[in-house]
Amino acid sequence: MKSLNNIHSQVPEHVAIIMDGNGRWAKEKGKIRTFGHKAGVKAVRAAVSYALKSKVKALTLFAFSSENWNRPVDEVGVLMELFKLVLGSEVKKLHKNNVKLRVIGDTSRFDSKLIKKVHDAEELTKNNTGLTLNIAANYGGRWDIVNAAKTLADKVKSGELTTAEITEELFTEQTCAADLPVVDLLIRTGGEQRISNFLLWQLAYAELYFSDIYWPDFNEQTFQDAVNDFNHRQRRFGKTGEQVS
Ligand code: FPP
Repeated sequence: MKSLNNIHSQVPEHVAIIMDGNGRWAKEKGKIRTFGHKAGVKAVRAAVSYALKSKVKALTLFAFSSENWNRPVDEVGVLMELFKLVLGSEVKKLHKNNVKLRVIGDTSRFDSKLIKKVHDAEELTKNNTGLTLNIAANYGGRWDIVNAAKTLADKVKSGELTTAEITEELFTEQTCAADLPVVDLLIRTGGEQRISNFLLWQLAYAELYFSDIYWPDFNEQTFQDAVNDFNHRQRRFGKTGEQVS
C-alpha cells in the first residue's frame, strides 16, 4: 500500500459512496459505457485502500441499484460479470487485510454463480474484525425500510413484540446496516447532487459531499479531500452551534 500524506485524525466511522459517472467518463473517451465500469474497479480499490489506511470502520459502495435493471440488457450483463470477476479476484486480498465483506440488497435476482460467489466471500471473511466493506447490489433504500417494517410487523403479529415497543433503535436493527455505525459521510461522484434511493434511513444525519469528477477518476486523494471537507463541517444533530462548540 502506498502511504498517504495528511491523513486526518478525525476520520468518519462509516462512509457511503455513490459511484457515479462511469458511462460519461467512457463516452468522453469515445468508448462504450461498459469500458467505464471496468475502469471503475481501480477506483473501488483506491477507496478500499484509503479506508484501510485511515481506519474507517465501514465503507458502503453503491454498485447496483434496484432501478439499474432497467438499463440495456448488455450493460446489466457486463456489470454482473464484472461483479463475479471482482469478487473472484479481490476476495483473498480483502481477507488478508482483515476486511469483512458483505453484499447488501436483494441478491435473490442474481444468477446462481454470482449468489455462490457472494456467499463464499461472505463466509470467508465473516470473522474479520477490520474494515466492513458493504457492496450494495440490487439495493434500494425504500426496499430496506419496507423490509424492516415487514419484519417488525411479523414480530408484532406473532406476539414477540408490541407496537409500543418499536423504537428507532429496534427499527435500525432490522435494516441492512444494523450492526454498523450510522453513516457519517456520503460521497457522490459524477456531478449530480441527489441520494438516488441509497441508504435513506442510515443517511439521516450524514454529511453530504458531491464531487464533479467521474468515478473512474476517483482516487485516494479525492477521498482525502472529502474527509478534509467533512472535518470542516459542524455536526449539530439538531442542537445550536453554541451548544455543540
Ligand atoms: C454508475 O455510473 C456506476 C454503476 C451503476 C456501476 C458501478 C460499478 C463498478 C464501479 C464496478 C465494480 C464495483 C464493485 C463494487 C464490484 P453510471 O453508469 O450511472 O455513469 P453515468 O452517470 O455517467 O451514465
